Amino acid sequence: MKNPIMIGERLYLRPEEVEDAAPSARWDAEETDDFTDDFGRFPSSPIVFAEQAKKGSALDMPGTIPLMACLRESDELIGIVGITDINWVNRTGETFSFFAPGGAYRGSGYGTEAKLLLLEYGFERLGLHIIQSIVWEANERSAAALLKQGYQPAGRLKWDGTRRGVYMDALLFDVKRDEFLTSREAVLARNSARA
Ligand SMILES: CC(C)(COP(=O)(O)OP(=O)(O)OC[C@H]1O[C@@H](n2cnc3c(N)ncnc32)[C@H](O)[C@@H]1OP(=O)(O)O)[C@@H](O)C(=O)NCCC(=O)NCCS
Repeated sequence: MKNPIMIGERLYLRPEEVEDAAPSARWDAEETDDFTDDFGRFPSSPIVFAEQAKKGSALDMPGTIPLMACLRESDELIGIVGITDINWVNRTGETFSFFAPGGAYRGSGYGTEAKLLLLEYGFERLGLHIIQSIVWEANERSAAALLKQGYQPAGRLKWDGTRRGVYMDALLFDVKRDEFLTSREAVLARNSARA
């Protein structure tokens, strides 16, 4: 493992490196799903990703902390998770996650394993007390994964974006520190059995 921050059964989370820019940009180019965001597809530049990585690691109190999900057995980078919109005074933040398109890295429990490590990081290391997540309503897999991970539905933002020219709603989820601590072991056991 290289520079692990959080270690799980099959994967670990480490800080972002400038070298991660190339796979990050490639994943955008290889994306197959059209329901994960509302800005459509456009070519991503590895140069931009590399600049973001440099800027982010230079901040004392970053608003966003990305963590790279890597396989323990090979160190292969398979996804990115993170916390954004961090409010250090009120101790809130919003999680995001993205796993490599195609192949075996979506729908196999990796997202849930990484998210549990991320929530532990957010609650135990950063000291946050509530964490949110926002999902486009068409992204049923992401919403299902969040519910499985212990998040609760917290509302709906109507007509918050468009997909194929039609307005769509965004679904809001949140998880409190005590809820996470209560459900964590059960979620881990279910995910491990499924994997
Ligand atoms: C969202 C994402 C991070 C989730 O990680 P993952 O590893 O795929 O998630 P998991 O395998 O742990 O869980 C997915 C669950 O959704 C379920 N699911 C899949 N497609 C579904 C659908 N169309 N409707 C309902 N449930 C669905 C799966 O069955 C699984 O639940 P189960 O374990 O009870 O069977 C990953 O799929 C991804 O990177 N997607 C593309 C980017 C994205 O959408 N990011 C989130 C933006 S909000």
